[in-house]
Amino acid sequence: MNEVLPDTAQIRSGRLSIGGVDAADLADRYGTPLIVFDRVTFEARARAFAAEVDAEQVFYAGKSFLCVAVAELLDDLGLGLDVCTGGELATALAASFPAGRIIFHGNNKSEEELRAAKDTGVGRIVVDSFDEIERLRSIGVGSDLLVRITPGVEAHTHEYVQTGQEESKFGFTLADGIALEALRHALDLAGDRVSGVHAHIGSQIFELTAFDLAVARLATFLVAAHAELGFEARELNLGGGIGIAHTRDEVTPDPARVVKSLRDAVEREFAERGLRVPRLLVEPGRAIAGPSGVTIYRVGTVKRIPGVRTYVAVDGGMSDNPRHALYGARYEALLAERAGAPATARVTIAGKHCESGDVVTRDVRLPSDVAPGDLLAVPATGAYTYAMASNYNRVPRPAVVMVEGGDAIEIVARESHLDLLRLDRRADGSPL
Ligand code: LLP
Repeated sequence: MNEVLPDTAQIRSGRLSIGGVDAADLADRYGTPLIVFDRVTFEARARAFAAEVDAEQVFYAGKSFLCVAVAELLDDLGLGLDVCTGGELATALAASFPAGRIIFHGNNKSEEELRAAKDTGVGRIVVDSFDEIERLRSIGVGSDLLVRITPGVEAHTHEYVQTGQEESKFGFTLADGIALEALRHALDLAGDRVSGVHAHIGSQIFELTAFDLAVARLATFLVAAHAELGFEARELNLGGGIGIAHTRDEVTPDPARVVKSLRDAVEREFAERGLRVPRLLVEPGRAIAGPSGVTIYRVGTVKRIPGVRTYVAVDGGMSDNPRHALYGARYEALLAERAGAPATARVTIAGKHCESGDVVTRDVRLPSDVAPGDLLAVPATGAYTYAMASNYNRVPRPAVVMVEGGDAIEIVARESHLDLLRLDRRADGSPL
């Protein structure tokens, strides 16, 4: 189980602790479902990404998990931050995160968002469409710009596909001279403030050669950009997408090794083509937040269907972690107070929502006497869980507690029914 648990996790006499705090104590104190966020793991992984480059070249992808406290940790570490909406930007600014270290993404940034970026001094904007370039023309450019390219490499896990014409809603395809045209428009708008290009090729990538191929294509594109437009990229942003282990048969890649491999690819491919080697930027999200989080649930019912399946239903589900429902994602699970008991039963962890597809993970091994009242821990749930949480069935979102050195701090409070009702109005429009 160590492959998927945070660095500080320990199992002693069958009891799980994280950051020196007993998981069951946390459940008693803060209730369940609860997301336990291990500060040591988060900071160690963030630092590891910055081992081979300057911290400012690493832009943590806020979409994976962002709240004010996380933005504060990132600021202390000196990292950059990738935001993709006005809401993520507002969160960063509420944490007094320096706007100059923010990079703003999105395929449909509104005029309001672009104005906010300008007014607050956001350091970089990744330009995603011709419409956005025109929008920026009327607002004015206060940031450096990177042009988002879809290099025709789409990578997921151990496979990648190469495509000529991209289907993505993001960025500018290399095909038909479209990316070059976009760069021409961007240069016309912002001249020297166009600092480079960006590409994000996928999610949960373990096979780094997919990045090598993307770098080669971007370098080839930049040869043309130099010849046609006299443009030299100062920065090359390779996005995020580095995978993590969710189950014990997977291995989480070492961030420093990944960044070194990307940097080597950039140096090689650019030098080979006689181009100036740009500064590498990266945007890891899951690879930092994912291994730092463990979700603790309380088991409420166990339904045994002889010869078919056993459902262990917990007090959360697709509202705090929609990833199985959306992507068929798999996780490990263990009982937080009797982790040492032989795990002989194969079970499906279901949620409490009114939907058959409400499953956290399936076919995990638990003790056959798993029963109501047991605490169930699901590791590797720090990324794209709380960040994608919903109020489906009017279920309040869980709390998030940060643990470190035997202490726990609530960094996101549990939502209450009152919170849910706060925005409701009566049928005549009056407040409750
Ligand atoms: N940069 C850009 C431009 C991105 O679009 C993304 C993720 C990242 C960085 C961070 O990628 P990461 O290192 O976290 O893989 N909800 C999905 C993941 C969607 C990722 C979208 N973009 C999931 O739960 O698997």
